[in-house]
Amino acid sequence: MKKSIMIKNASQLVTCSGSRAKQGKAMADLHIIEDGALVVENGVITAVGKSSEVLSRFGQSGIESIDATAKAVLPGFVDSHTHFVFGGYRAEEFSWRLSGDDYMEIMNRGGGIASTVKATREATREELIAFGRKRLDSMLSFGVTTVEGKSGYGLDEETEIKQLEVMEVLDRVHAVDVVKTFLGAHAIPLNFKGRADHYIDYVANTVLPKISHRNLAEFCDVFCEKGVFSIEQSKRLLLKAKDLGFKVKLHADEIFPLGGAELAADLGAISADHLLQASDKGIVKMAEEGVIATLLPGTAFSLREPYARGRYMIDQGCAVALATDLNPGSCFSESVPLVHALATLSMDITIEEAITALTINGAAAVDRADKIGSLDVGKDGDVVILEFPSYKFIPYHTGVSCVEKVIKNGKLVFDKSR
Ligand code: NIG
Ligand code: FE
Repeated sequence: MKKSIMIKNASQLVTCSGSRAKQGKAMADLHIIEDGALVVENGVITAVGKSSEVLSRFGQSGIESIDATAKAVLPGFVDSHTHFVFGGYRAEEFSWRLSGDDYMEIMNRGGGIASTVKATREATREELIAFGRKRLDSMLSFGVTTVEGKSGYGLDEETEIKQLEVMEVLDRVHAVDVVKTFLGAHAIPLNFKGRADHYIDYVANTVLPKISHRNLAEFCDVFCEKGVFSIEQSKRLLLKAKDLGFKVKLHADEIFPLGGAELAADLGAISADHLLQASDKGIVKMAEEGVIATLLPGTAFSLREPYARGRYMIDQGCAVALATDLNPGSCFSESVPLVHALATLSMDITIEEAITALTINGAAAVDRADKIGSLDVGKDGDVVILEFPSYKFIPYHTGVSCVEKVIKNGKLVFDKSR
């Protein structure tokens, strides 16, 4: 028997309609249906429209329905850049940064990412699964139905694989879908100190083929940054990754303007992320090549760095996605509404553009814009119901989740009202 669910009488059905990334001006149009309804059958959306139309087609009886009177309904959010599987915490480091220590300095003296690498190597698989599950529960409460997760806290074959396997388990057992990214080139491990080229050789020639063979990740990412991996090293690794069939992403131009945005465009990367220091030329190239600019304002906020030029990027025709960057160092927050508020209040991105950036453009950043990220017939039934009548409450109720219910593939998986 078909398992169906209807959501009706929504004050706003914010469809974000589309099946590919929205660039530039197109980001402002949310395709809202007032007094809207939708139906999900066997996990897939089969009807979207005015409540009166949908009700006359499906009738009232025999179908489970949720009354969304005075509530806005949106697609499940896609958090397209996180590092949510890790061991240990770095609360001390947060306080060092408050007293003036610099993020890169801390990392260079063996703290930062290196300290999380140590804790992640020591953590058992079960511990990582338990922590990961809690973080996914929290993300779900913010309306996230798909999350991208990166490895990168192993920096050796065994632990990188352990992190990806943990994400594989979590994807299976948790309502939130997990898209896996291999980030073996996240930092230079201590045993390769001063030998970044050798480490790239090891990652490209030893680890990457095993990840590919076991189909443990869909994307390959690299921290392309001054003092970490150069443009040449990043290019070498990502070309090898593409050869092996991975789609590629970059942590680009975060702290120093190295030319990561240009490299992302040259390589046909799916996304380039951070981009605080991206050049005008790099931004135009990304717009031309359709590389998604994934902006992480929670990280700039937490590190007290200048924000990426989101307004300028959209005006140049880029497709911008927004994500949390949840990780134990530079941004320990899974708050989608905080990201939304920072984007609107500090980056001059409009409320509507920010919604697009968290839905259909987030979906495009994980190469799933044909399956998720909008409320269209044929897409997965991933739906968020707010406690309030308008999507404008998301940044307005700053940093606090106003998500009442989350439906994943047509199943109610979170309900704050119960
Ligand atoms: O995206 N910039 C590099 N990587 C992460 C931070 C990782 C960490 O500090 O643990 C980021 O911000
Ligand atoms: Fe990151």
